[in-house]
Amino acid sequence: MADISSETQPVPQHDILHGKRLLLIVGGGIAAYKCLDLIRRLKERHMQVRCILTKGGRQFVTPLSLSSLSGEKVYEDLFSLTDEAEMGHIRLSREADLVLVAPATADLMAKMATGQADDLATTALLATDKPVMIAPSMNTMMWQHPATRRNLDTLIRDGVRIIDPGAGDLACGEVGAGRLAEVPDLIAAIEGFFLDRFPHSALRGKHVLITAGPTREPLDPVRYIANRSSGKQGYALAAALVERGAKVTLVSGPTDLPCPAGVRRVDVETARDMLAACEAALPADAAICVAAVADWRPEDCAGNKIKKQDGAAPVLRLTENPDILKTLCARPKDRPALVIGFAAETEKIAEHARAKRLRKGCDWIVANDVSFTDGQSVMGADHNRVLLITPEEEFSWPETSKTDIARQLAEKIDHYFMQNQNKD
Ligand code: C5P
Repeated sequence: MADISSETQPVPQHDILHGKRLLLIVGGGIAAYKCLDLIRRLKERHMQVRCILTKGGRQFVTPLSLSSLSGEKVYEDLFSLTDEAEMGHIRLSREADLVLVAPATADLMAKMATGQADDLATTALLATDKPVMIAPSMNTMMWQHPATRRNLDTLIRDGVRIIDPGAGDLACGEVGAGRLAEVPDLIAAIEGFFLDRFPHSALRGKHVLITAGPTREPLDPVRYIANRSSGKQGYALAAALVERGAKVTLVSGPTDLPCPAGVRRVDVETARDMLAACEAALPADAAICVAAVADWRPEDCAGNKIKKQDGAAPVLRLTENPDILKTLCARPKDRPALVIGFAAETEKIAEHARAKRLRKGCDWIVANDVSFTDGQSVMGADHNRVLLITPEEEFSWPETSKTDIARQLAEKIDHYFMQNQNKD
């Protein structure tokens, strides 16, 4: 396994919650007020929070305070024509990375355990394909009642994660277990969920090198040759691999994207800088070259801004850039065990990509079918359509988001290391 622990450069650690989407279902308990602070803290960390407010919840907090803090519309009614037209309850339940019920009342827990769906909250909970977490809050006797214990057991068996209530003074005047967990504990549970989604990942601790974005090849101090690559696919892949516990070094050309949580990013401009940064990052267990590296650069970079001369346009002489993918594949001593290239193709996609895999010497190649956009560039778009080619198999993934493609590819890479872990 590669070791990057001796790294001396500062490691930009970004927030694991950044950009993650939470569907928060606010139930009817006095502790609902804690949700306001929770939303505030999560928003500070750039999480997207969308709320469903139950009828009971509305007795304790207003939709206005939830929407002011979350910056999103608050959903309340299952049969609202406007809500359904704008965001159906199924979509609402799916467009999240995690669903949190807080406070989860005894009534809500009972409904969840028995699969009832008589309002928007319970319907979304039944319709969701996303992980669900509940933070129970109720009177001690209710919490300890055999009916609640039975429901809790059922929910745990169904895969629902529980944020245990704390003990102390309860709003009803009694003392005991049943207080909604405090906001820092709720946040710790959410963080824990995102940090530990793949407990059996073979990528845990593996070092993965990724190149992403365009390169800029300078002509003079103010001008350069570049391309339209946004870096989205490479960044999404970095995030998907970190989710599985990999240590990711992202060697990135200039992009506008925030560095994904937990990724070590090295910023570069030119192809030669990108190669040098990749070589410096070795050893790595895997290398994935997603960057759109300029094939050529101006032969000379003028020391001063090239002046306009009447009637005489300058002639640009270009010279070839190093091929980073090919160079990494040919490293005699520290070639990463798995090297993956990307290829943008418009025709004979599989045929061209297969040939490219052999020419470059990489193990797998991911062919972007850039023809599906009808002339629009896949560069900068949020969607992609790809074909993954390995020596043994080929997988065609229909058009989907770059995030989805990243997750599917991360799963394949995880599987590769799983199968090969005894051969190390
Ligand atoms: O040859 P072509 O540019 O089509 O190959 C694409 C693949 O090669 C991508 O994985 C890209 O990141 C990589 N590449 C590279 N260095 C270059 C050119 C391409 O790493 N100079």
